[in-house]
Amino acid sequence: MPKAKTVFFCQNCGAQSVKWIGRCPSCGEWNTYVEEVIQQERREDRARGIRAAEPRLIADIDWSEQRRISTADGELDRVLGGGLVPGSLVLIGGEPGIGKSTLMMQVALRMEGKRILYISGEESEQQLRMRGDRLGIQNKDFYILTETSVQSVLHQIEKINPGLVIVDSIQTLQTEAVDSSQGSVSQVRECTSELQRLAKTTGIPVVLIGHITKEGYLAGPKVLEHMVDTVLQFEGDRHHIYRILRATKNRFGSVSELGIYEMQSSGLREVANPSEILLSQRDEQLSGVVIAATLEGLRPMLIETQALVSSAAYGTPQRSATGFDVRRLNMLLAVLEKRCGFRLGMKDVFLNIAGGIRVDDPAIDLAVICAVLSSNTDIPVDKDICFAAEVGLSGEIRAVNRIEARILEGEKLGFAKIAISAYNSRNLDIKKFSIQVIPCRRIEEVYALLFG
Ligand code: TYD
Ligand code: MG
Repeated sequence: MPKAKTVFFCQNCGAQSVKWIGRCPSCGEWNTYVEEVIQQERREDRARGIRAAEPRLIADIDWSEQRRISTADGELDRVLGGGLVPGSLVLIGGEPGIGKSTLMMQVALRMEGKRILYISGEESEQQLRMRGDRLGIQNKDFYILTETSVQSVLHQIEKINPGLVIVDSIQTLQTEAVDSSQGSVSQVRECTSELQRLAKTTGIPVVLIGHITKEGYLAGPKVLEHMVDTVLQFEGDRHHIYRILRATKNRFGSVSELGIYEMQSSGLREVANPSEILLSQRDEQLSGVVIAATLEGLRPMLIETQALVSSAAYGTPQRSATGFDVRRLNMLLAVLEKRCGFRLGMKDVFLNIAGGIRVDDPAIDLAVICAVLSSNTDIPVDKDICFAAEVGLSGEIRAVNRIEARILEGEKLGFAKIAISAYNSRNLDIKKFSIQVIPCRRIEEVYALLFG
C-alpha cells in the first residue's frame, strides 16, 4: 500500500506547505497549520471527469435573463443581480446565530413550483420542522435531508432531482476522497468542488451556507471564495433586529447591491424602505441627533447619527463610536478643534449610528460634526434638515458621489432642507428639487446656519 501523503494546510487562508510552519507566509496568522492527509486521486477517476468539450461560437450560446430563477424574495433577488442563475454556486456566510439558516429556509419555503432539497448537517429533522412551523409557510415540495456525506448527498440529489439545493453548512460535509477531518481545508474544498461539478453539469443552483471564524473570515477559507460564483455576506448585530445581506463577489451581477431584513419572531421580513426604520421615531427635538443621507451600495438611505459630548470625568477624555470608525471621529474632532476653535479636548465624545448598522460612507462626516456640535451646545438641530457631505482636514465641506440620489431620498422622506457641499451643487440644478438644497463651503457656515 502506498504511503498516505500528507500536506500541511493553513486553516485560515488555505495555503499549503510540505512541512509545518509556525507563521503562515501568505496570511501572516500564527499557528494555523494543520496536517491533513490527501489521497492521490486515481488516474481513471480523473480521466472520467474530463469530458471532451467542443469549442462553440459565443453567439450560438443560448442565454437570456429570463432564465434566472426568482427566489420570491425581493431583497435576495436584487443582491443576486436579478435571481439565481441556473447551475451557479452561491456561498452565504455569516456569524453563528445571525440567521443564515432562517433566511435560506424561508426563501426556499416560499419558492413555488420547484422541488427544493435542504441538506442539513447541523440540525435534526425535528429542529428543522420546528423552524419551518415557526416561519409558518407551507410548501409541499420541500425536502429535508440530514446527511453529511457528499457521496450520499449526490446520490439523493440524483434520485429526487430538485430545482434548488441548499447545503447547511458546507463545513459539516465530508467526502470519502480525502481522509482529513470534517471542516478542514481539504474537506471543505473537495466537497465544494463535488457540488460545483454537480451544479455545472445538471444546471441545479446550489446554495452553500458557510460559517465565519471569529476574525471574520469565511472558515474554509479564501479557496472557497474562488470556487463559487457568488459570495453573499449576511451581517448585522445579533442584539439588533436588522440584518444586511451584501454581495462581496458576484459573477452575475453587481456587488454594490444590498438587502435589508428585520428579524422577527416569525422569520425575516424584507425591509423595502430602509430609511423609515433607521430613523428612530422622534417626536421632540433632542440635541445631538442629526440625520445623514448615506449610501449603502447603490441604495440611498437616511440614518440617524447620535452624539453625546460631556465633560471628561477622569483625566483622559474618552472617544468611542458605534457603527463608525473611531479614528475618523478623532480626525473630525481634531478638525473642529484646530480649524474652528471648538474646545473639545477635555470632553468625552460618544457617537452612535442608530439601528446597529455600520457606515463607512464619508458623506456622513458633516452629520457627525453637526451632532457633536449640537450635543456640545445642547441646541437641537432642526428636525427637517439632513446632511450629505464629507469634511476635509482644513474644515472644508467636500463633495460626495451620487448626490442626486441622496437629495431625492431626503425629499422622498419629507425633509425640508438638505445641506451639501457647494462643489456638489455647482453642476446641479438645485431648483428642480422640492427640497431646499443648501450649499456649504466651510464648517463655520454650517455652524452659523444651525446655531446662529
Ligand atoms: P439561525 O438561522 O439559526 O442562525 P444561523 O443559521 O446563522 O446560525 O437563526 C438564529 C437566530 O434567529 C436565533 O437566535 C433565533 C432567531 N430567530 C428569530 O428571531 N425568529 C425566527 O423566526 C427564527 C426562525 C429565528
Ligand atoms: Mg444555522
